[in-house]
Amino acid sequence: MCGIIGYTGDKQSASIILSSLYNLEYRGYDSCGIAVKDLDISVLKDVGKVDEVNTKLNFLSLEGHTGVGHTRWCTHGKVTKENAHPLLSNNHKIAVVHNGIIENYLLLKKRLQKEGFTFYSETDTEVIPNLIEYYARSKSFIDAVQLAVGDLCGQYAILIMSTQYDGLIACRKESPLVLGVGHNEYYVASDIPAFAQYTNNVVYLNDGDILYITNKSYSIYNNNIKQQHPVTTISREIEETGKGDFEHYFIKEVMEQIDAIKRLIFIDQSIISEVAKEIIKAKGTYMVACGTASYACMYGLYLFSKIAHIHVNFCIASEFDNFKHFLTQDSLVIAISQSGETADTLMAIRSAKEKGAKVISITNVEGSTLTRESDYTILQKAGQEICVISTKAYTSQLAILIMIAYEIVGNYKEAVEILKDLIKYLYYLTSESMREYIKLLADKLKDKEHIYLIGRSFQYPTALEAALKIKEVSYIHAEAYAGGELKHGSIAMIEDGSPCIVFVSNETESSIISNAIELKARGAWIIGVGQRNNEVFDYFIKVRELPWLNSICQIIPMQLLAYQLAILRGCDPDKPRNLAKSVTVL
Ligand code: G6P
Repeated sequence: MCGIIGYTGDKQSASIILSSLYNLEYRGYDSCGIAVKDLDISVLKDVGKVDEVNTKLNFLSLEGHTGVGHTRWCTHGKVTKENAHPLLSNNHKIAVVHNGIIENYLLLKKRLQKEGFTFYSETDTEVIPNLIEYYARSKSFIDAVQLAVGDLCGQYAILIMSTQYDGLIACRKESPLVLGVGHNEYYVASDIPAFAQYTNNVVYLNDGDILYITNKSYSIYNNNIKQQHPVTTISREIEETGKGDFEHYFIKEVMEQIDAIKRLIFIDQSIISEVAKEIIKAKGTYMVACGTASYACMYGLYLFSKIAHIHVNFCIASEFDNFKHFLTQDSLVIAISQSGETADTLMAIRSAKEKGAKVISITNVEGSTLTRESDYTILQKAGQEICVISTKAYTSQLAILIMIAYEIVGNYKEAVEILKDLIKYLYYLTSESMREYIKLLADKLKDKEHIYLIGRSFQYPTALEAALKIKEVSYIHAEAYAGGELKHGSIAMIEDGSPCIVFVSNETESSIISNAIELKARGAWIIGVGQRNNEVFDYFIKVRELPWLNSICQIIPMQLLAYQLAILRGCDPDKPRNLAKSVTVL
């Protein structure tokens, strides 16, 4: 959840770490900090986003060629300056940044307190520099690090910098960590975009690895055995990650959906074919994911059932462990994850692999942990998604699922054709006139406490995803139901003036309109989304019927609506409160 970065080399480290922190901020942004080593270690850190903290403290005033940085999404300890990273040992000779959770930190803390150590934060992380300090009293620094790491239970990616060590030490267990190899300089970070502007030569670290960077070289050990991990040159272009002419990444990425889907049309068909064959062959296919990607999976269920007549199971990744007993060597697990680093999704595929099942992943991040642990990967190529709210990654996941479903029935060309049609229509859905109309609707909704959304069939996951967009970014309570479920309880919530968004398709029109009428009879005002207006609608968002693709088309006005609600309510659409883009803790 947090982003960590370390640099050691010929350059001043603070400016490199600062630029990396901006790129890592999507992982968490409640506080941040940088520590740089010269003769001593200096730390600047505070509560706030990177830009705010830098304006206040001026990170560039830190001088030294080795440094570590951190951007935080708090797990242990409130959002305070004291709890921000880097955290120092009592003797101020060791600085640590950490992503993950040290599960046994209370035990370790008590042990260290008995030895006279004082703790200044509520974090689990603070035990790490102090444990190292403790062991270093009687051992070499490297032995002290190894002993300290041996005491830790949990998940972690840790960077250690010390005045007692010339360089940096990094360790990884179940949290992502990548080494960037430059010319006489090294970068260690939670992910590649953190340093992609400086080098595209990377080394992926494995669980249990300890990386030592010193004297302008590096070595990696795992269980005291030297590792020879290959240096991989990342082929992807370093993308333009600025906001361009847009005020926020959110709206920029909504507009980029056209390009994202265009790129899919040119995807290598053979990989889709391999995946389709695996689905046909499998005795039981399970889709797993979290958040927005989980709604892509739900859409996949309807799609595989209706187009390919194949039954696929779905489980949110954090619950998958409860169902792993059904897995065999003939099972197939399809994991969908924009980042490829979501801890729950990774846990799910690992339990699948333990049972011998095959794993296919659909992800947007090349080189992510998910890609490295899957048997097959379909890369979304949607371009880096920086806004915490997922938009273009979601619709490209839906488009990939369509391609797979069509390939299963031998109709890949048709999938490409309907996607081409879709692209033409996406220009209208993201047009100025659509955005202006949605603005008007947002104005009517902006002061509401609750918004209800209903859909049937493919429109049920659409309603769920639309509700999630609204909640995440505007903090209005939004709840989605399958149209048929309303009268089984939730309709009790509807009162005079309750806004309800109703998603309609040709397939579901008569039944969902009946549900809308039931809502209206209880005082609701209805916003219809679909091809045809209806007298039950108070407002109507016209979205052309495109069989199988309605879910892509109908979510776009909802993305625009969520964005406008955020703007009108004064919320930051790119960095909503309490969220992080990549949730790397369980
Ligand atoms: C976080 C993000 C969501 C995202 C979910 C899954 O909760 O805030 O926007 O949908 O993680 O992320 P993934 O990278 O696995 O798709």
